[in-house]
Amino acid sequence: MSQKQGFFSHETLEKNVGWLIIATIIVVSIAGLVQIVPLFFQHSTTEPDPGITPYSPLRLMGRDIYIREGCVGCHSQQVRTLQAETERYGHFSTAGESVYDHPFLWGSKRTGPDLARVGGRYSDDWQRIHLRNPRDVVPESVMPSYPWLEKTQLPTNDIQARMHALKRLGVPYKDEEIARAPEELAGKTEEDALVAYLQGLGLNRRNVRVDSAAAPAPAKE
Ligand code: HEC
Repeated sequence: MSQKQGFFSHETLEKNVGWLIIATIIVVSIAGLVQIVPLFFQHSTTEPDPGITPYSPLRLMGRDIYIREGCVGCHSQQVRTLQAETERYGHFSTAGESVYDHPFLWGSKRTGPDLARVGGRYSDDWQRIHLRNPRDVVPESVMPSYPWLEKTQLPTNDIQARMHALKRLGVPYKDEEIARAPEELAGKTEEDALVAYLQGLGLNRRNVRVDSAAAPAPAKE
């Protein structure tokens, strides 16, 4: 066959790994931009879902303790769009639920169950006993105990800095809320904060059925 191949032919790419790499990078970059850039402008990914409000100071401290203790290493907070997951945990997670999470705690490891919808599933007392020694309520549990949380007072001197930092990232805290924050933490323990955080997880979706197209009911805080 004496058909002449021009430079812009498949053969050029198939026989030159350098060109193949360059062409692949160009294609993947364009495809990536097409997929990712619109997400920065879509309301469904940038606006909070109904019922999603910024964390109260107590819950914010709880979230920071959750991060400090590495709970995310064993627990995800992301219900996927699979039937087995939505039947077990509830409505699948949406981007609008995480707009105030800096950083988000979706996680990827599930040594324990997903916690995205754990709010209100157990009583506060259950949560406290479970944190102090998980085996008291779930005998076969491999979760570590966190007995120091109930004995450690929350610091009240840095909550305002934490809230200011989040405000700079776009979380709409009002100045009065920040001013009042240390009061809310006074006399509370780390365990109080962590339990408050856990008990609020996924509440905005509590009354929403997976197959319903209705708007989610607003959360009662
Ligand atoms: C080594 C892995 C591991 C770590 C770290 C861990 N957990 Fe767990 N967690 C588990 C396992 C396994 C279970 C299931 C058994 C049980 O209920 O104790 C569980 C269960 C739970 C449950 C009950 C969930 C449900 O739907 O029944 C909550 C709430 C929870 N963990 C919170 C936490 C918090 C908060 C932290 C951090 C302070 C934490 N876990 C750290 C492994 C872990």
